[in-house]
Amino acid sequence: MWNFDEVIDRQGSDSIKYDKRDEVFGRKDVIPMWVADMDFKSPPFVIEAISRKLNQEILGYSFRPDGYFTSIVNWLKKRHQWDVRAEWIEFSPGIVPALNMCTLAYTNPGDEIIIQPPVYTPFFRAARDHGRRLVYNCLKETESGWIMDIDDLASKITPSTRMVILSNPHNPVGRAWHREELEAVVDLCRGKEIVIISDEIHSDLILQGNRHVPLASLSEEAAAMTVTCIAPSKTFNLAGLSTSSLIISDESLHNKFWTTIENLHMHLGNIFGNVASEAAYTYGEEWLEELLLYIRGNVDLVVSFCQEYIPSIKPVKPEATYMIWLDCRALGLDGRNLQRFFVEKAGVGLNEGSAFGPGGEGFMRMNLACPRATVLKALEKIKKAID
Ligand SMILES: Cc1ncc(COP(=O)(O)O)c(C=O)c1O
Repeated sequence: MWNFDEVIDRQGSDSIKYDKRDEVFGRKDVIPMWVADMDFKSPPFVIEAISRKLNQEILGYSFRPDGYFTSIVNWLKKRHQWDVRAEWIEFSPGIVPALNMCTLAYTNPGDEIIIQPPVYTPFFRAARDHGRRLVYNCLKETESGWIMDIDDLASKITPSTRMVILSNPHNPVGRAWHREELEAVVDLCRGKEIVIISDEIHSDLILQGNRHVPLASLSEEAAAMTVTCIAPSKTFNLAGLSTSSLIISDESLHNKFWTTIENLHMHLGNIFGNVASEAAYTYGEEWLEELLLYIRGNVDLVVSFCQEYIPSIKPVKPEATYMIWLDCRALGLDGRNLQRFFVEKAGVGLNEGSAFGPGGEGFMRMNLACPRATVLKALEKIKKAID
């Protein structure tokens, strides 16, 4: 019913993905498949909600009404069978700001924060920029895919560990973590005054019959040590509205976060973000189901095309997210040269794997939230370059 095949010219719209290509890739004409936003229109019910607000013609200070919170409560119950209470929900102007505020709220300079590379780049800075010590619990690549290295995590937790940041589902390797994996993390953090930040921004983008398990839904004990970050921004293409939510059921953790965001005067939010979030979570299911089918089709196209025509690139089929992690190690190029190859020879702008930290070398991350024709064009260009 929705036309995800429509090719929309985003050039000249101040889009980072399109209009910063020259700066990032040294060329304006690469097919941009990097920054995690979608080349699809945001859903009509979101645009209508924003238009209604705009048509009031006064854009003064506003608060988030009850409907904003109820829409999140209902969405989490319906989509992830997770019961949350409205009073557990806190606003943040984006998940990256939230990660940084969590560092300020729950840790002190010199404390250790564990992350699981290869992982979304701002996780590194959420620790380093504030003088916290970053500790790597690297993911493990196995025959059956990428997994958490739980033994290594056990060895990395010390009396100075105060925070663990998880990408659940994981960007860039595309894993939707299983219950047992998450339980193992909770077991190791138990009783040690460690806060787990579960970044679940991709949790609505679940593919191929997989399931998202909200970490805090595992048990009351898990919830008591967890801050969950969610947002409609990836799912409904609203990243420019800087609107996301944190679910924090533990009162003490909640108060610490609230004090931090209030002290920074960042709690007010964005008038359009408020109505967009509510509309997306209220009316978004049908649209999302179609989106997921479409993305799945794009993933299948990449997998079959690579198998048939570019066997030197091995895609890691994602369980979640619209990103695909491409194993390009058979090309025998180091990170810099791999990026140069894709930009200069193929004319395609992807994210180079080593930017995601240890374990990422030799991989490229490709954004598949675009019309199928764009995916095909990029694959053909890559094939030609390799041939
Ligand atoms: C794991 C993860 N967290 C957070 C973000 C961005 O969050 P925000 O735009 O709300 O700061 C992204 C975007 O790609 C992401 O992949």
